[in-house]
Amino acid sequence: MSDPVEIFEVGPRDGLQNEKRLIPAADKIALVDLLSTAGFRRIEVTSFVSPKWVPQMGDAAEVMAGITRAPGISYAVLTPNLKGYEGARAARASEIAVFASASEGFSKANLNATIAESLERMRPVIEAAKADGIPVRGYVSVVTDCPFDGPTPPCNVARVAALLRDMGCYEISLGETLGKGRAETVDAMLTAVLSEVPAARLAGHFHDTEGRALENIDVSLARGLRVFDAAVGGLGGCPYAPGAKGNVATERVADHLAELGHPTGLDMEIVRRAADLARSLR
Ligand code: HMG
Ligand code: MG
Repeated sequence: MSDPVEIFEVGPRDGLQNEKRLIPAADKIALVDLLSTAGFRRIEVTSFVSPKWVPQMGDAAEVMAGITRAPGISYAVLTPNLKGYEGARAARASEIAVFASASEGFSKANLNATIAESLERMRPVIEAAKADGIPVRGYVSVVTDCPFDGPTPPCNVARVAALLRDMGCYEISLGETLGKGRAETVDAMLTAVLSEVPAARLAGHFHDTEGRALENIDVSLARGLRVFDAAVGGLGGCPYAPGAKGNVATERVADHLAELGHPTGLDMEIVRRAADLARSLR
């Protein structure tokens, strides 16, 4: 048997945020509640972002208030600024996630800020969370390819990951937002990041636009990563990354890890039911 690997379920947030039809909060709550019985330790529920930017996440407070929390599960939310943090704290989020970009083009499109401005905006959010005892996870997006700036230099990813670590993020999730990464580009990116941040504090976040997410997970496993983000049903995409399609599907990652002998602790019958439910919401 190989090492256990954790799948961090991001379906209710990253899976649904890009859907055009406004999904009723009750359906999102039902999805989270089903996922809470599947064996996940962390579930990303929603985002406290501007509803002008991402209307689908405009019901964040209602969704957080409606879910039934299971003991031992961390219910995570995205927070881009202090306003989002206040919403997350009021909603009793177990942890928050801040998100930065490795390219200037995506930073501007996703956050209306340069990388430096977005990191400065995050600083008080992380400080406030620390003071409140709320753990903070950090994302770096477009880690291999950017829809606006082209290939991302690995040293840019390493720099932003190290800054997020220095600011106090307990884990850095490496977002391959576009799904264009290849084994060689992912490996080169990881070489740079691992020179700054150890594998135990990293997670892989792969979108499967071109069908290479599992291959890229294999590369990351070989480099020591043991946490991967995934979304049930393979839904998703980023509204500010044109061409980015679904997240890698949780059920595919779990089956793949099982074949490699990595236990995930998930109840696959429930995961498959959650995948059917997620797909029915589009
Ligand atoms: P801005 O327009 O520069 O901000 O956006 P602003 O401060 O001028 O605010 C504009 C309006 O939004 C104001 O309302 C604010 O009050 C309101 P008005 O006064 O006009 O009525 N507002 C908010 N409302 C609720 N909650 C908030 C909030 N903040 C402002 N937190 C901002 C800047 C950062 C707000 C905006 O760009 C934003 O919300 N961006 C988020 C975009 C997003 O959610 N993208 C998807 C998630 S990232 C992703 O998917 C990648 C990832 O999966 C990893 C990967 O795959 O790479 C994580
Ligand atoms: Mg994503």
